[in-house]
Amino acid sequence: MFEPDKSTYQLADGNQMPILGFGTYKINKPELMTQSVQTAYEAGYRLFDTAQYYRNEKVLGDAIARLGVSRDKVFIIDKVTEMNQGHDLTINSTEFSLEQLGTDYVDLLLVHWPIADKFFETWKAFEELKKQGKVRSIGVSNFTRSQLELLKTQADEMPVVNQIETHPYFTQQPMIDFNTKQSIITQAWSPLGRGLVLDNPMLEKIAKHHGKTPAQIVLRWDIQRGISIIPKSQTPQRIKENAELDFELSDDEQSMLDIMNRNQRTGNEPELVYELGKQYKN
Ligand SMILES: NC(=O)c1ccc[n+]([C@@H]2O[C@H](COP(=O)([O-])OP(=O)(O)OC[C@H]3O[C@@H](n4cnc5c(N)ncnc54)[C@H](OP(=O)(O)O)[C@@H]3O)[C@@H](O)[C@H]2O)c1
Repeated sequence: MFEPDKSTYQLADGNQMPILGFGTYKINKPELMTQSVQTAYEAGYRLFDTAQYYRNEKVLGDAIARLGVSRDKVFIIDKVTEMNQGHDLTINSTEFSLEQLGTDYVDLLLVHWPIADKFFETWKAFEELKKQGKVRSIGVSNFTRSQLELLKTQADEMPVVNQIETHPYFTQQPMIDFNTKQSIITQAWSPLGRGLVLDNPMLEKIAKHHGKTPAQIVLRWDIQRGISIIPKSQTPQRIKENAELDFELSDDEQSMLDIMNRNQRTGNEPELVYELGKQYKN
């Protein structure tokens, strides 16, 4: 049974992470953030995903404070942006992020994108931040298989989460299988393909059959393939809808979504970001 406020994955470091999270990219206005975080919390979301790059850590921290719940009731993910990578910048920028968020620790800190020049020193800083208790778990985002294998050559601890783009038009099954083999939980960013996938006729048909919406079908598919999801919405009704996932897709329905793959990204190609050292414009 999927209960958003109780359903978690056990991470390889022993910590628990909620399966369902709330994506906050492009939510920057304080009022909108406060209302969205409140609606999400009431709907059962316990995980909130931000990044230095989003420039909304302060408004998110303020919105979480306004919930008036104890710190251990929410799971906060933050990410170190490309220009803050490298050993000292990672440490200093994370300390600034904690100030912005108004907290002593983040539950999970991610390397937002792998970049070649700062690859190992950034990860050393992550391991130190974890030892200091400033972050509870450490992970990565947008890492390919070869980058994880490279990291393994020098890491004392491996990432426990890899947050990657995946949705029905970009299923990434080989990458997810590799993460699983390495005891890394996959977390889907843009799980709805930024809305792109939702008018797919097959998806609409499955949704009608279950009396659900296409978004709910996609998110349920993700849960059944064992990954974590962080859909974003600033629409109260959709925030609630995206948490109502207590139904079951058949194996055949799962397969129908599996074969929608078109290898179609909505975001950047990790290998290019790795080489360029920063995200480029689409
Ligand atoms: N690690 C990374 O590099 C990375 C990259 C991108 C994103 N992320 C994270 O992943 C989160 C989610 O990704 P995303 O924001 O790019 O895209 P997404 O969650 O796939 O899609 C968000 C879009 O779908 C719409 N939507 C949401 N629920 C819906 C529903 N039930 N029915 C119809 N439309 C719906 C939203 O509209 P409204 O808001 O107008 O309702 C919004 O336009 C981000 O917010 C961010 O936290 C991480």
